[in-house]
Amino acid sequence: MQPLPEAAQGSNEQWAALVLRRALTDVNLHGVDIPAGSLVHVLLASANRDPRQYPDPDTFDISRPTIERHMAFGGGPHFCPGTALSRLLADLSFRSWYPHVHRLSLDPADPPTLRLTQGSFGFARLPFIIGD
Ligand code: HEM
Repeated sequence: MQPLPEAAQGSNEQWAALVLRRALTDVNLHGVDIPAGSLVHVLLASANRDPRQYPDPDTFDISRPTIERHMAFGGGPHFCPGTALSRLLADLSFRSWYPHVHRLSLDPADPPTLRLTQGSFGFARLPFIIGD
């Protein structure tokens, strides 16, 4: 079993969505020509499901050996400075609700709905039934 911070990376951070960049020069990425000056939507959530990095990418698997290669906090000079704080908060939050997970179940009569706003993936509603 992995320590909790990695588990949090594998689940929580996979929801981060996109960053914007302006191409400074003509560039070709994976066969796609991107002219200089283009605005590029970099889909981090898509990168985090790249089958070349993560075999079977849509399977929830927090024990992946490649899990720490994710792009959820970006990369390079703009790498998120809130990473350590976010991991700490995720760790505390997982530790507080994990002991109660066995009491929670999804309500078949009221299924979860996804938030559809561009750039922000996640659940708009995630109702649980709390058992004994
Ligand atoms: C799970 C939580 C978080 C995720 C997934 C996340 C994700 C990201 C990503 C992907 C970027 C890169 C943006 C880019 O390259 O254009 C970024 C930048 C940034 N993040 Fe976060 N972030 C999180 C939490 C936080 C927190 C808690 C703070 C502050 C307390 C924070 C402050 C910032 C700032 C100031 C930048 C801009 C850095 C720059 O442009 O140089 N983030 N974040």
